[in-house]
Amino acid sequence: MKTHSVHVCRECGTTSPRWVGRCPGCAAWNSLDEEKVPTRAVAGVAASATVALHTIDPDRDARLSTGVAELDRVLGGGLLAGSTTLLFGEPGVGKSTLALMSLRSLAAQGSAVLLIGAEESAGQVAQRARRLGPVPTGLEVATTTSVDTAVALIEERRPLVCVIDSISAMSDEGLSGVAGSVAQVRNAAERLCGVAKTTSTALLLVGHVTKDGELAGPRTLEHLVDTVVRIEGDRYASLRVVRALKHRFGPTGEVGLLEMVSEGLRDLPETALALHHGDAEVAGVVFTVTNDGSRSFLVEVQALVASSSGAPRRVAHQVSSQRLSLMLAVLEARCDIDVSALDVFAATAGGMAATEPAVDLALALAVASAAVGFSVPRSLVAVGEVGLAGELRAVSGLTRRVREAGRLGATHVLVPAAGELDDVDGVTLTRCSSLADAIRAARHAP
Ligand code: TYD
Ligand code: MG
Repeated sequence: MKTHSVHVCRECGTTSPRWVGRCPGCAAWNSLDEEKVPTRAVAGVAASATVALHTIDPDRDARLSTGVAELDRVLGGGLLAGSTTLLFGEPGVGKSTLALMSLRSLAAQGSAVLLIGAEESAGQVAQRARRLGPVPTGLEVATTTSVDTAVALIEERRPLVCVIDSISAMSDEGLSGVAGSVAQVRNAAERLCGVAKTTSTALLLVGHVTKDGELAGPRTLEHLVDTVVRIEGDRYASLRVVRALKHRFGPTGEVGLLEMVSEGLRDLPETALALHHGDAEVAGVVFTVTNDGSRSFLVEVQALVASSSGAPRRVAHQVSSQRLSLMLAVLEARCDIDVSALDVFAATAGGMAATEPAVDLALALAVASAAVGFSVPRSLVAVGEVGLAGELRAVSGLTRRVREAGRLGATHVLVPAAGELDDVDGVTLTRCSSLADAIRAARHAP
């Protein structure tokens, strides 16, 4: 194969015909690597035929439901023929499981689907499939790491949906560079996207990302694919969050909740997060509502303080460590609650991340509750941003949050004194102007 050189940015994937010191795309320094790419003949290109727009039925590109309602929601209804979706996340988060579940469901609806496995043997894929339940006929599996073979398979089989697991393991013998290098991954994705378009296959590429988010793949593939979906979650908790980061044909920022169980991933309705009034009340537990995309989620914030041996530790898990430090300073300076000599641990229960400032009040109350030793009723939800002066600040989407709290069982919500808020049936609102006010209200709540 004839090749020529291009220079590709490691950070953002921008290409330049010449080497330059600073990436024209993302302005990173020294981030361009030389790569050999195949030279494609351009001679004799015919003008493509035109079609009168009014003769095209906009509904012909029907969404292909993946059978996983929360994934469909994020995709805007399902996968789209001829389009490419990148599904990425950390190892072990459940990418292969989610991809296989989608194929199973599509095959069960009678669609021809193809799984190209580049990391596992057909036996291993079959084992995972069996764990998920009975295996439908019509789910074809091939194992290869060769892009040429994968492209040929798609052209020959013309599946409605094809999964490549993973794009990071695909390589092209005609190219220098090992599998997983930026050049290989980009080239593989480019060729596969191309064949997806010409065969009208809905293509799902699985991509890996490491802990610190660096990846010789997904980020550099963002421009090539139509949709980017990230699957997030704590390996040791069962909650998984799927999120559309880019969507050419649907909404972005949409969030779906899944739960990893022994039979795979299952949809987690928001009501699964509801308050359990019967549970024992313990110090250090406070509920809040966080807004994410178009949805609101009830989150349990937990704090623990313990006597420290040596330098006091601050550990924040699924809450912001900066916000935690700030809350500790405000509690000491404005509320006379001093934890400077104690270890402080703060986390959310169940693995839902809650890092926005509207979570401040619940975080500060949880620490105050743990440090002072009072418990906060489970029927109470706290929402608000805490400022440096100890004041409670208005937050966006307050009515939506209070409504969700009420729907999931809260009867009492602490909210900032400022900010627009409609009445919500069945919920008593206590407007607080400061963190100190809110602590008093939470301590003496019925
Ligand atoms: P996997 O889909 O292989 O993750 P990825 O492809 O993102 O690396 O799934 C990883 C984990 O999920 C693995 O540790 C086992 C667990 N798991 C279940 O809990 N239930 C299941 O039904 C399956 C298939 C996996
Ligand atoms: Mg996998």
